[in-house]
Amino acid sequence: MKFFIDTANLEEIREINSMGILAGVTTNPSLVAKEKNVSFHDRLREITAEVQGSVSAEVIGLTAEEMIAEGKELAAIAPNITVKVPMTADGLKAVKALSDVGIKTNVTLIFNANQALMAARAGATYVSPFLGRLDDIGQNGLDLIDTISTIFVQHGIRTEIIAASIRHPLHVTEAALRGAHIATIPYKVFLQLMQHPLTDKGIEQFLHDWNNRS
Ligand code: E4P
Repeated sequence: MKFFIDTANLEEIREINSMGILAGVTTNPSLVAKEKNVSFHDRLREITAEVQGSVSAEVIGLTAEEMIAEGKELAAIAPNITVKVPMTADGLKAVKALSDVGIKTNVTLIFNANQALMAARAGATYVSPFLGRLDDIGQNGLDLIDTISTIFVQHGIRTEIIAASIRHPLHVTEAALRGAHIATIPYKVFLQLMQHPLTDKGIEQFLHDWNNRS
């Protein structure tokens, strides 16, 4: 499973990218809105210059025509832009039109397996099931990863599954076990992934022993 970061914050992206573990970035309108005094397109230029892998940029329009026009504009910013489209009937039409002209797409706000299957059949490069938001309403987000993964493998579907709306480290491990190709992870969860109290204790012990050697 590959790691994407789920943020529009350049410092966070640079920090994780410098560790050599980053395969891409996802943004959404809420994440972009948190970034003050920066235009969306300028921020996408900065992110795509920093990260070589896929950078998802979401359309705002709700009709297929609007999404297609916006998607083409976003894709023109850099070759590694992936156009993020919501899972609606118009979204599927936009995915088909954009994929027909070679533009990569990420169908977002996926909450059941049929949505993922339809998005894949429309030509989506990626589907993004939202684990945390399903957990929030008492459904099992991780089970959805299992189901989508089983269906995609059984039918030879090459669309990649991005485990999204990740809230904690266990989501990451379980998403990997259950067949997600990618997890898009918030910065604070990346920091949690690296930590273990025995690692800290071990470093402390090694330093103590080194400093007290005879
Ligand atoms: C995915 O691409 C979305 O940006 C994201 O994972 C949504 O997560 P949230 O439910 O924490 O807002």
